Amino acid sequence: MLRVLAACEILAIDSDDRYSLAELGKLLLKTSPTSHRGEVTDFFETIWAPLGSLMHAVQTGENAFEHALGMTFFEYLSRNAEVGSFFNQLMVKNAPARYTGLSSVYDFSKVRTVVDLGRGEGGLLLHLLREQEHLRAVLFDLPDVVANAAVRFEAAGFINRCKIVAGSFLDSVPAGGDSTSLRTSSTTLITTARERCSPTAAPR
Ligand SMILES: C[S@@+](CC[C@H](N)C(=O)[O-])C[C@H]1O[C@@H](n2cnc3c(N)ncnc32)[C@H](O)[C@@H]1O
Repeated sequence: MLRVLAACEILAIDSDDRYSLAELGKLLLKTSPTSHRGEVTDFFETIWAPLGSLMHAVQTGENAFEHALGMTFFEYLSRNAEVGSFFNQLMVKNAPARYTGLSSVYDFSKVRTVVDLGRGEGGLLLHLLREQEHLRAVLFDLPDVVANAAVRFEAAGFINRCKIVAGSFLDSVPAGGDSTSLRTSSTTLITTARERCSPTAAPR
């Protein structure tokens, strides 16, 4: 095992055959500010089987996760509360790195209400409401996911500026925003578009 980890550059071996953490391995430390430890300890089991289906996905165009586990990724998260909770927390944790600088490339000054589709427990909106004091927001995601969002908005003092709506964007989306953002798995949308559009109307 040590030798495999060294081959993957997670560990380093010195000339006396002693092992130490390599730069990549340091990302597994709890104390690292950019730690990815949770992805390995709490998430790897979930993606292990789908990783084994990658060849099948490349050869058939089918989704590796669905092929391996017989359900969509988000169905899996909904049925496995602990993994779902880990994933939603991860999305919020990663939000600052993803969205810092967004206000410098998009002019929010004329936007009054932003509707955010599929944004988990509110990673983007918590960031935007903090930066843009005039802004109001609608957070929309699946029921299991938004169930925990109110606590975050309450704690941040933004609960009166954000309406939290549960539902599926495959059925309908909330109206009333003058800016709408969406960031989610494109395969969810493409699969649904394929299923719901007639062959003549399907996107090419
Ligand atoms: C990859 S995560 C992205 C999280 C978030 N957008 C971010 O950037 O931090 C995709 C999100 O889409 C949501 N989602 C997936 N299918 C959905 C559906 N049918 N309707 C609404 N939200 C959905 C998931 O619950 C998840 O929060």
